[in-house]
Amino acid sequence: NDDPFIFKYGGIYFPSTHTSPQIIDSVQDFEIRDSDVFLITYPKSGTVWTQQILSLIVNEGHRNGTEEIQNMSRVPWIEYNLSKMDYDSRPSPRLFSSHLPYYFVPRDLRNKRGKIIYIARNPKDVAVSYYHFYKAIKKVKQKKDWETFLDDYLSGKVLSSSWFDHVKGWYTHQEDFNILFLTYEEMKKDLRSSVRQICRFVEKELDEREVDTIVEKATFQNMKQDPLANYTTVPEDTLDVKIATHLRKGTVGDWKNLMTVAQNEKFDKIYSEKMIGVPINFTWD
Ligand code: PPS
Repeated sequence: NDDPFIFKYGGIYFPSTHTSPQIIDSVQDFEIRDSDVFLITYPKSGTVWTQQILSLIVNEGHRNGTEEIQNMSRVPWIEYNLSKMDYDSRPSPRLFSSHLPYYFVPRDLRNKRGKIIYIARNPKDVAVSYYHFYKAIKKVKQKKDWETFLDDYLSGKVLSSSWFDHVKGWYTHQEDFNILFLTYEEMKKDLRSSVRQICRFVEKELDEREVDTIVEKATFQNMKQDPLANYTTVPEDTLDVKIATHLRKGTVGDWKNLMTVAQNEKFDKIYSEKMIGVPINFTWD
């Protein structure tokens, strides 16, 4: 990858604006509490959405609107720690986000301490979402056309590297962790049932009215207008929010608007080669 702000560590491309090899190493030693919940995703797979859901489930003050705290602070990124938060002093249950591959997360998680929610999204929509997002990353000076970006994405030359390695890695190592595996598409299809599944997994019993509130506050339209949830206040030097925001379209099948027939065939071929033995049923449109 030719962007100077990107470094490669352990086979993965990271942004030097947000992290370093030392931080990545220290994450592995991070001491887990049994009540910790880690939201893990490949980028553009529904992270910000699930941050909102998780935060609404766990924090009553978020549900009833009495606390004005951004999701960025409620479900902070373990490998970025943008606001230099003291994670040790946070009250339980602590919530974290991460884009790390399975072999870089805190070791304790492998002893089934703590919980992981992994969200996967169909990789064609991820590619399109990522393409639009990349245009807004300020440090990326050379903006690539769709064809070039797609090739980079398919060969893992983007931040967080290969979608295939990330999803396959997490999917095939599920047994090692205490993990709930969901897809973006099933959340789109039935948000209420996904919210309930997450409630059960994090052992939070909520009544019907509380679940209604969460579903309502986690719709695309409502989140897009919600300054605590829409990430429009990201540090100014990172993202040009006039070009792209974290909430762009929020649909399934947008790849059809960008991908040519030839690109789609190439994609399908690579998908079937790389995802052998990974029976995830994505909805593609
Ligand atoms: S990031 O940068 O990795 O944190 O991005 P991430 O949040 O994982 O993914 C961004 C995409 O998720 C969509 N999104 C939603 N879809 C449906 N409903 C809700 N509430 C929602 N919130 C975020 C967002 O629009 C991005 O997808 P695209 O296809 O670009 O719209």
